[in-house]
Amino acid sequence: MLDLTNIREELAQHYDLAPNPELAEAMSDTFAKMDRVVNPIDWARYAPYVAAINKLKKEKNAVILAHNYMTPQIYHGVADVVGDSLQLAIEATRVEADIIVQCGVHFMAETSKILNPAKIVLMPDMDAGCSLADAITAADIEEMRRQYPGAPVVTYVNTTAEVKAASDICCTSSNAAQIVAALDGDTIIMTPDQYLAQNVAKMVPQKRVVWYNGSCIVHEQYTAQDIREFREWNPGTRIITHPECPPEVVAEADYSGSTSGIIKYVNDEKPERAMLVTECSMASNIADSLPEVDFVGPCNMCPYMKMITLEKVLWTLHTGQTPVEVDEAVAGKARQAVERMIDMSKQLGL
Ligand code: 13P
Ligand code: SF4
Repeated sequence: MLDLTNIREELAQHYDLAPNPELAEAMSDTFAKMDRVVNPIDWARYAPYVAAINKLKKEKNAVILAHNYMTPQIYHGVADVVGDSLQLAIEATRVEADIIVQCGVHFMAETSKILNPAKIVLMPDMDAGCSLADAITAADIEEMRRQYPGAPVVTYVNTTAEVKAASDICCTSSNAAQIVAALDGDTIIMTPDQYLAQNVAKMVPQKRVVWYNGSCIVHEQYTAQDIREFREWNPGTRIITHPECPPEVVAEADYSGSTSGIIKYVNDEKPERAMLVTECSMASNIADSLPEVDFVGPCNMCPYMKMITLEKVLWTLHTGQTPVEVDEAVAGKARQAVERMIDMSKQLGL
């Protein structure tokens, strides 16, 4: 576990990180992208970190790839590229800078390293995991293969490199249904997210989809009853879910899609009121660019995503701690599964 006291003392010796209203004012263009969701007092605290990170990025020839669930101060303040899991994987293949700082969870950093092994991929906090990645091992994949001989294994990118390496092809929430539909065979094994698999099974009835029993601790908390009650209290609210939610929750929604699908849907539709049934930062990150939309309702925080903070991003750039390494034999096989997904997504026009 990172020693935050030590990190703070070390950073304070090299950077002026005290709250700075003048600097915050000078960086008002950046603040304007998040001033609906971040208050000016907090912005005066964040601005010195944002300025220091952006300066260090240039000096060290680094880029920051950030997932849509990062906090607004990371998403709008320091990220060079933002996106969903598929977009970040594709962007990782294109990075020319020497260093990638992955603002997301560990499997995302591993995926970047697998796809662009010559780069240094830094993780601001190695403990930022994922309940789905923790749910399954390569041995579990082999057990599924024994249960369903000959069936292809489609594995969500939210997994370790070893699990990807044991699979035939990866998927993300933005291409899972299309990949399952396009594969040969009547039976398709989907791992590790039981809910994503059940949602895909409904969308691709021509296939028999069988699944592993993993789940996302953020999305599994929602119930269909919550959604129905929310609709009753707030008639007219557009309800938008992520496909990691249980299928009975997705069935109550007006739209379900990956985080980039959610952003596109809200931008296209511009509903008066929207409830995003997903991680809390999703709505915060798009609130300023959609002033006409009132984002309402409960959201759930991902404890892993929220381990990534401005302080830890500055620390990782300052020290080069901690680079992600993947055993080359494992990385080679995992790369095949991820590249198959990227190639198939392109062929399918996704
Ligand atoms: P996407 O951004 O690919 O929809 O994934 C959501 C998620 O939970 C990532 O951990
Ligand atoms: Fe994993 Fe869920 Fe957090 Fe995404 S939101 S990192 S799937 S626990």
